[in-house]
Amino acid sequence: MNRRNFIKSGAALTALAFFYPEKILGGAKVMAAENLKWWQKSIVYQIYPKSFQDTTGSGTGDLNGITQHLDYLKKLGVGAIWLTPIYPSPQVDNGYDISDYTAINPDFGTMKDFEKLVAEADKRGIKIVMDLVFNHSSDKHEWFLESKKNRTNPKADWYIWKDAKPDGSAPTNWRCFFGGGVWTWCEERQQYYMHTFAKEQPDLNWENPEVRQALFDAAKFWLDKGVGGFRIDAIPYIKKPAYVDGTPDGKDGMVAVHKMTVNTPGILDFLHEFKDKVFAGHDIFTVGEANGVSPEELKYWIGEQGVFDMIFEFSHVLLPLKNGEVFCRPTEWKLTELKQAISESQAATKNNGWYPMYFENHDRPRSPNYFFKKDADKVKAAKALATILLTMRGTPFIYEGQELGMTNIDWDSIEMYNDIGSHTQFDFALNEGFTVAQAMDFIKFFSRDNARTPMQWNDKTNAGFSSGKTWLPVNDNFKTLNAAAEEKNSDSVLNWYRKLAKFRAENIELTHGDYKLILPSSEEIFAFSRSVDGKTLITAVNFTSENVALPLELSNKKIVLSSEENADKNSLKPLEARIYK
Ligand code: NOJ
Repeated sequence: MNRRNFIKSGAALTALAFFYPEKILGGAKVMAAENLKWWQKSIVYQIYPKSFQDTTGSGTGDLNGITQHLDYLKKLGVGAIWLTPIYPSPQVDNGYDISDYTAINPDFGTMKDFEKLVAEADKRGIKIVMDLVFNHSSDKHEWFLESKKNRTNPKADWYIWKDAKPDGSAPTNWRCFFGGGVWTWCEERQQYYMHTFAKEQPDLNWENPEVRQALFDAAKFWLDKGVGGFRIDAIPYIKKPAYVDGTPDGKDGMVAVHKMTVNTPGILDFLHEFKDKVFAGHDIFTVGEANGVSPEELKYWIGEQGVFDMIFEFSHVLLPLKNGEVFCRPTEWKLTELKQAISESQAATKNNGWYPMYFENHDRPRSPNYFFKKDADKVKAAKALATILLTMRGTPFIYEGQELGMTNIDWDSIEMYNDIGSHTQFDFALNEGFTVAQAMDFIKFFSRDNARTPMQWNDKTNAGFSSGKTWLPVNDNFKTLNAAAEEKNSDSVLNWYRKLAKFRAENIELTHGDYKLILPSSEEIFAFSRSVDGKTLITAVNFTSENVALPLELSNKKIVLSSEENADKNSLKPLEARIYK
């Protein structure tokens, strides 16, 4: 099976291959400069509020902490902030289990704090983007508490309830993303309910128009608060197909739910209703977390006829993972594969819709660890990826701490990890016959907690994140890797990000220009051009830790920016990133 078919099969996703793949292809046309919307010219910064800045000493970040750092974000050139869920939640999946869609988690502050954040951000030309988690709610949401009471209550049909099979077993053999089946037995109703993710995240029944309207009303509530857009979680799972068993793909006799329920016929009707009733007519952007959308279907999902402005694409971030397993562990991959994955996504969105470019988010390891060899210089690696991110066509998404070059943690015991997915992964690996030490290596490589440790603001207590006991330990390297130190160092990752952001804002090629891959077969250099109106910029990044000679087609160009001092026109230094005019 080739990578694309494998990805489509969903085998990698059974666990948290977080989450979603698919390649998308498309036509070719240079977007007219004047046609770009504000969010196509913006940089989006993703904040994991729990870990950004605590202002109360609770050990958990809060909204006022975000407001406090708006000038820092402004200086980074940020135009929009995507907040991962800030709603009341039992935090089984760190906020992706919502118990009230139109309120603020008291741990994060109050609605007034939120309004202040929106207003203060607005003063700086920054929009706030909310995360909509509409495939499922928390099992503590009052809708579910009502629904589970009996089979006749007014919300009886708001979730997905099914009778047991005649032998009492679950309705299907589908495995949820967090391990175990998607069905959990409910004593009160004497029925099973379905959950694509953890059992505390029951799936909402989108077939019920009242449910859809309640969700749309929740989104509108936030539009009325002045938000600038939405990131929409796990959206291709909202339409459930026939409830039939699938061919088992693991030792547990189950099949990945992804394979059975992703992007099934009829979903677009729901999505168009969503668009028409909520997004239409608002100057916002929407980005769907949408796997399983084939190249042919892309035009129905994004762009003029589509429902969203952008969808997150997963092929490039899945490359470092071994195919065909129910858990995540590293594999060998080639630079040409990364270039191909990104280039195909570029081609796909050239003429239809728009691409959100990213290397990190709260579900991924830190990129300097993930995309480079163990012994690679992490500062140089962070700058190398920053250069691709900020010179690529599409809207760049920076995840908190990425601009500092934050790196993975290296915790030895599974007990130290908070992420529900890490525990699942660990169990999967043991079930498949790996030793505890091997399973721990996989966790260290892929745990979502790698990206969730507190922001490293300075070298003081808890990296300046909190004066209290932090909800997740701070990465040990905060004494040397922190924003205050980087602020003072003109050669830091932070200052490289700032330089690139400014360069992007000043050079129309980088926002509007066409994308073309250069040196496609090189396993050492990732190079591409961005051209518009007869002007061209070229990015060249050395992915190796050796000097690499440059071909004439690059060595005779004018270097306008380099991550290295004294850049040599004939070669790239280890992990050097540069831009040519
Ligand atoms: C995708 C989110 O990014 C992830 O963090 C979460 O666990 C799942 N969706 C479930 O909501």
